[in-house]
Amino acid sequence: MDLRNAYDQRSVVVTGAGGFIGSHLVEALVKLGARVRALDHLARDAQVNLAAVIDRIEYVQRSLDQDVPLDDVVGGCDYLFHLAANASVPLSSERPGMDFEINVGGTYRVMEAFRRAGAGRLIFPSTASVYGEPLRDPMDETHPLRPMSPYAGSKLAAEFLLDAYARCYGFDHRRARLFSTFGPRQRKYVMFDLIEKLRRDPRRLEILGTGLQLRTYSYVADTVQALLHIGAHPDARGEVFNIGGEEPISIRELAELIVETLGIAPPEMVFTGQSWPGDVQRLIGDWSKLRALGYEPRIGLREGLRRLAAWHRGEFSPPW
Ligand SMILES: NC(=O)c1ccc[n+]([C@@H]2O[C@H](COP(=O)([O-])OP(=O)(O)OC[C@H]3O[C@@H](n4cnc5c(N)ncnc54)[C@H](O)[C@@H]3O)[C@@H](O)[C@H]2O)c1
Repeated sequence: MDLRNAYDQRSVVVTGAGGFIGSHLVEALVKLGARVRALDHLARDAQVNLAAVIDRIEYVQRSLDQDVPLDDVVGGCDYLFHLAANASVPLSSERPGMDFEINVGGTYRVMEAFRRAGAGRLIFPSTASVYGEPLRDPMDETHPLRPMSPYAGSKLAAEFLLDAYARCYGFDHRRARLFSTFGPRQRKYVMFDLIEKLRRDPRRLEILGTGLQLRTYSYVADTVQALLHIGAHPDARGEVFNIGGEEPISIRELAELIVETLGIAPPEMVFTGQSWPGDVQRLIGDWSKLRALGYEPRIGLREGLRRLAAWHRGEFSPPW
């Protein structure tokens, strides 16, 4: 797929642009020659993640939880990647109202502006947690939908709303269900937590849960390429695609791989036994539908971990 041809000189809006995936997506779009309008509710000055490209994009500080029309942001765009969300499962189970307001209400407000704009493509990253505990492994896009957290429920509600809008108003939308994505600038979740704990104490590593939870991980640059493929491909209209990683790996194996990547002596590993409400034990994705569009991950888990460790060292000056 010729992504330059698809995005060069096109007008692209990215919501949640200052976040982990959003900032990598914006950088990739700038490299492809796109004219990017980046929306986030954080102040321009707080945009550390966008520092490398902030002078080459139009930055709009706007919150999706205000009832303010977004027509001036969305109008005239060729592509709209709607990433802004509360993206934390633990936070969602503590404060479900926030997910309802931002993930559902914010998506509604984006769609209303998009509908009024009358053209373009809307790409929405949903989550693999809409599937809930697997009834079969790996899970493809036809797996039953049984969300187990307010976060997963809110993303699924937004998916369905989007689908209904597309049918009712005939607009071009594409959905992706992301399995865990990791990489530089992700300052939360399992990879960050494990490296951060090891930075503070390389001799002892406490791990939430049993260590047996299975996941597939996609490096952020691969996830971004996948989203760009889905946005650009003529056959992706109205479809939903899993964005998975390679082989499934348990949290214990992941911790061992991180230790190996950091080049430190194996620490004592302590498992808490219990994780958080809404946590899913196995999330293994089948992404052959996406592969059929011509997408292949380039970086993968091991090289991705090396890049993540290098970024973490640069940001936080560890003792090793
Ligand atoms: N990281 C993953 O593994 C993963 C997995 C599944 C789905 N996703 C989805 O991908 C998207 C990006 O996730 P991420 O990991 O980069 O999260 P993130 O938290 O780093 O980024 C989300 C961004 O949205 C912005 N935002 C939040 N509320 C807003 C509001 N009311 N108005 C404007 N901006 C607001 C935040 O400031 C932040 O910059 C989300 O939609 C998330 O649900 C991520």
